[in-house]
Amino acid sequence: LSIRATAYADELVQTAKSIASPGRGILAIDESNATCGKRLASIGLDNNESNRQAYRQLLLTTPGLGEYISGAILFEETLYQSTTDGKKFVDCLREENIVPGIKVDKGLVPLPGSNNESWCQGLDGLASRSAKYYKQGACFAKWPSELAVKEAAWGLARYAAISQDNGLVPIVEPEILLDGDHSIDRTLQVAEKVWAEVFFYLLQNIVMFEGILLKPSMVLPGAEHKKKATPEQVAEYTLRMLKRRVPPAVPGIMFLSGGQSEVEATLNLNAMNQSPNPWHVSFSYARALQNTVLKTWKGLPENVEAAQKALLICAKANSLAQLGRYSA
Ligand code: 13P
Repeated sequence: LSIRATAYADELVQTAKSIASPGRGILAIDESNATCGKRLASIGLDNNESNRQAYRQLLLTTPGLGEYISGAILFEETLYQSTTDGKKFVDCLREENIVPGIKVDKGLVPLPGSNNESWCQGLDGLASRSAKYYKQGACFAKWPSELAVKEAAWGLARYAAISQDNGLVPIVEPEILLDGDHSIDRTLQVAEKVWAEVFFYLLQNIVMFEGILLKPSMVLPGAEHKKKATPEQVAEYTLRMLKRRVPPAVPGIMFLSGGQSEVEATLNLNAMNQSPNPWHVSFSYARALQNTVLKTWKGLPENVEAAQKALLICAKANSLAQLGRYSA
């Protein structure tokens, strides 16, 4: 093994550090057009480019957002979009000191021979697409994957190496879904296995740990399990898993919300920041930052300001949770 030789090494470290900065986390709005359509349908809007643009404009032009948000993950369409006044979304983010990121995969398909598991398409051509995204202003990337463990772990490691060679800080996210009635101990076991595998392949692909960010699921009992875990239990289990598996060279751990309510996601993050951690432990939420915003907006221009306020309130709560200072 040697050290990764990429011309972007210093820049990657800087980008990762600035995303993992105190009191800030990531706003994930990288829903594919199909998933964004589901969000819009929940408030009775059609899934067309102009509605998606209006919704993304609401989120990305929220005044003061950069105080709590350090990075925003975009879908490809949004990376190339502008506001109705013709200002590039990427520039709106830069003005708030928010780093633009990009979801670089090409969607999930069934993995042949597996137990209904899926894997991610898009490694083919990823290097040239990454270079293009970087030119358009993206500085970090995301590639999700589900549980066909070995395939996913290898794919994540290949994606991470390609991203780093093209100037993008890869967010490494082996998503472990909340579905099921399993116990929190079972989740811990699975998470430990998955992260062991992921780091094994990251190392084989000479990925530079100082220039990646992780996006784990919190260690929780399955959504249909009879007993909910307290924030203290979630923090204890999740930190135990991270301490066993993640080297301190990794600058930031940016949790996904995974279908938890806004309050749950914030309380759990807050509990994890009650004592110092070797990494910046923060958020990269989609649903837990957008639920109230969507309900407040309802697709009406007169509600935009109120919806932006709702986003700021939720982002601030998580900013405080990142600092371990949130109280409900
Ligand atoms: P949720 O926070 O809604 O689980 O989404 C996370 C995610 O992966 C989006 O980028």
